[in-house]
Amino acid sequence: MWLSKMFILIYLIGVCAAQDPTEVPPSPLLQLKTAWLDVFPSEKVEFSCGIKDSSEWTFTLLRDGKNLASFPRDGSTLKVTAGAGGTERYSCVGHHEVKKTPSQTSSSVELRVYDNKPKPKISRSSSFDIMYTGESISFKCELTVSSGWEYLWYHNGKEISSSGDTLTKPSLGQSDDGQYECKAKRGMDPFFSEASEATSLQVSDPPTPTLTLQTPWHDVFENEVVEFTCELSSSIDWTFTWYRNNKKLSEDDVLIMDDDNLLNITSVSRAHQGQYACKAHLLPRGVSSGFSSTNELTVYEKIPEAALTKSPEYELMYVGETVNFTCKVSTSSGWTYVWYKDGTILSQTSQSISIYLSPSKEGEYYCLGTRSKTTATKSSEKIQQNAAEIPVPTLKLLSKWMDVFPTESVTLRCGMQSGSRWTYTWYKGTQRVQADSTVSFDSDRATLFIKSASAANEGAYKCEGHLQDRAVRSKFSSDLNLQVYDTGPRVLLLQKPTHSLMHTGDSVSFSCHVNVSSGWQYLWFKDSEILTSEGNNHTTIGSVVTTSSGSYQCQVKRGTNDAYYSAQSQWMKLDVKERPQAAITLLTGWSEVFSTDSLVLDCTVDDSNEWNYTWFKEEHPINSPPSEKHIVTPQNDPDQREYKCQGERNGRPSYSKQSTTFKTKNLLLKRRLLLSISGVIFFGIIAVFLGCIACRVLRKPDEADELPEDPNLFPLMPQLKDLTDTSCPLAEFITEAALNAPAREVEENGIICSETTQLPIVSPEDRDLMNDGNDQTENNGGLTSFQQ
Ligand SMILES: *[C@@H]1O[C@H](CO)[C@@H](O)[C@H](O)[C@H]1NC(C)=O
Ligand SMILES: *[C@@H]1O[C@H](CO)[C@@H](O)[C@H](O)[C@H]1NC(C)=O
Ligand SMILES: *[C@@H]1O[C@H](CO)[C@@H](O)[C@H](O)[C@H]1NC(C)=O
Ligand SMILES: *[C@@H]1O[C@H](CO)[C@@H](O)[C@H](O)[C@H]1NC(C)=O
Ligand SMILES: *[C@@H]1O[C@H](CO)[C@@H](O)[C@H](O)[C@H]1NC(C)=O
Repeated sequence: MWLSKMFILIYLIGVCAAQDPTEVPPSPLLQLKTAWLDVFPSEKVEFSCGIKDSSEWTFTLLRDGKNLASFPRDGSTLKVTAGAGGTERYSCVGHHEVKKTPSQTSSSVELRVYDNKPKPKISRSSSFDIMYTGESISFKCELTVSSGWEYLWYHNGKEISSSGDTLTKPSLGQSDDGQYECKAKRGMDPFFSEASEATSLQVSDPPTPTLTLQTPWHDVFENEVVEFTCELSSSIDWTFTWYRNNKKLSEDDVLIMDDDNLLNITSVSRAHQGQYACKAHLLPRGVSSGFSSTNELTVYEKIPEAALTKSPEYELMYVGETVNFTCKVSTSSGWTYVWYKDGTILSQTSQSISIYLSPSKEGEYYCLGTRSKTTATKSSEKIQQNAAEIPVPTLKLLSKWMDVFPTESVTLRCGMQSGSRWTYTWYKGTQRVQADSTVSFDSDRATLFIKSASAANEGAYKCEGHLQDRAVRSKFSSDLNLQVYDTGPRVLLLQKPTHSLMHTGDSVSFSCHVNVSSGWQYLWFKDSEILTSEGNNHTTIGSVVTTSSGSYQCQVKRGTNDAYYSAQSQWMKLDVKERPQAAITLLTGWSEVFSTDSLVLDCTVDDSNEWNYTWFKEEHPINSPPSEKHIVTPQNDPDQREYKCQGERNGRPSYSKQSTTFKTKNLLLKRRLLLSISGVIFFGIIAVFLGCIACRVLRKPDEADELPEDPNLFPLMPQLKDLTDTSCPLAEFITEAALNAPAREVEENGIICSETTQLPIVSPEDRDLMNDGNDQTENNGGLTSFQQ
């Protein structure tokens, strides 16, 4: 109890000691320690409150008259947070710890509190959206409300160490790209403003411009125009500079830099050759791009020649074919072509022109290339193009006949005048002929072979020429009509005269008739044996002999290899008999020598027919009525010449062989002379001869009557000739005798000898034999062919 009383007592003493009870209580002094009187909500404010020379007081801070907080006892300052806004009046009041008496309230301090936190404004030195590396920029942060601010900077949300209201970037790099913001702060217990709006900075390397050749060619000829442009996609006004082989170009008469981004070389020369490039610049900002890619320009001095080629290259071309001409300029490109025909410009301008040939398209073609007003090549060489009419093939028959028999062969040939390599197509009627078992062709089908014709091969053949790999087709040749007979020809043998019985010396001719076609060769047969091959259509035997008898036939053939043979004709039978012989007999006998001076000759033909007779004197027919007998008198024949006779009749045989010659000259006279002069001697000799003859006759009695003299008793004709030439004993004898004879007889000396030669009359048979021999050699069997 006393302890509490003690405290109260001490307190009271203190109060009494400090204050005179009559004294007014002291007034504390409230001091604002913060530097500014305008603050922001939630900003800290620092106060101090004190009474001079007194430490026995504690103080309380009042806001708008209400207790807010107590100051620390040690007398240090008190920090409070500013209120929500408006004006705040702060004061403080002390309490005496001992006297327990309050002090007076201090004078008040008025603070202005803003409604909101402040927000600084950020600004920048250049406003371009895009900045290029190397450019400089500075940002400024500004908070105009109140004072005492410091600034903080943020790049992409991260604080960067920098102070002051200005952030400077003297040389931008890629890393500086991004969002920039700033904040302001103040106070020891710092108060932060809100962050500024963000400003974004885009940093990139300067773009590379694109160099473009505006004119079409990188390789040009002198005096052509060349244009380059240098371009950037951005909308900024760049300016450009130009380089050739890394050396900057400057404008001159020829080199015009127009519109900022165009380089116009108005008339190019060799000096302009090189690598071109450009650069872009932003002059006010000091930005320069790198080099564009380079573009090479080649300048030729010489304009090349145009070369003209033709396809296909055939020299000889035909109407209806298409020929292409191509014009080539080997250097550079972009040529347009000018075409000429016979000096006139054609409308085509393409590199190749196609010409469908017709006569009006014939001419001399050439071309040249152009590509600007100043550039044109020399004209090409000229090519003469012709358009020949397609020839019509000629169809020929190489074998001989267009009408043939089954198995015959046929060869047709199709040909053209011109030298091109034609091949052919064959038609029979309207149908194309294909090679098969019966028809074959040679390699270019110019020749058609039918080895063995048949009815199926019949028809009208024609051909057509065409050129391989080319659209050239000729018209059709004319037709050749092939006829194939159903059967072989009919071969008919005719004989003239028609008698089948003939006599030696008759003439007969055979003719062979074929009822169709031609070109035949004739074969003749006798008794199935071939006589002549390839003979005439007729054959004549001028004078038949007995061996001409036989059966005759003919046959025809034609062709050489694989010749065609007809069937043989019918038989014609010929029978040849010996022609009967006429013979002269002297009817005047020895006994009549003295009673008459005429000779009676008699003609007989030794067969059973009736004959009329014709007499010949010295080979001339005697113009007298035909009679069996002929009388030779000194009146009708003073010279007494040679006589012959021949039998004649109506019917066959119509005549006989002629008799042998009978000589009557001086026969009568000689007989008388011989009889009268020679008398006994002659008869003696005759008797000897007759004796001998008798011997012979007795041995061969058959021949004795027929023949007036036996030929075997006398020398034969040739032997006789020899005899008369050398020695003629009888003649000698007569000649001597004639010395004494009258003149008339002497005249006829030589004739006596020749007369004697007549005595051993050669038998008619011998003569015939001799004549026959002659006939045989002359006629050689009796068949003679004549050329037609
Ligand atoms: C370039 O120069 C040529 C020659 O003077 C002229 O014809 C042409 O129009 C120019 N090009 C441009 C784009 O101006
Ligand atoms: C010719 O030109 C025409 C059209 O260009 C083409 O169809 C044809 O094949 C060419 N002919 C030859 C032989 O080059
Ligand atoms: C030819 O004769 C043969 C055989 O008799 C016959 O078939 C054919 O029709 C004849 N030809 C002519 C053209 O008369
Ligand atoms: C034989 O051929 C000739 C000439 O070709 C001709 O004039 C004559 O009429 C032919 N004769 C026969 C019988 O065929
Ligand atoms: C002989 O000739 C006469 C007169 O010409 C004639 O009438 C007679 O028929 C002929 N005799 C014979 C056998 O031919």
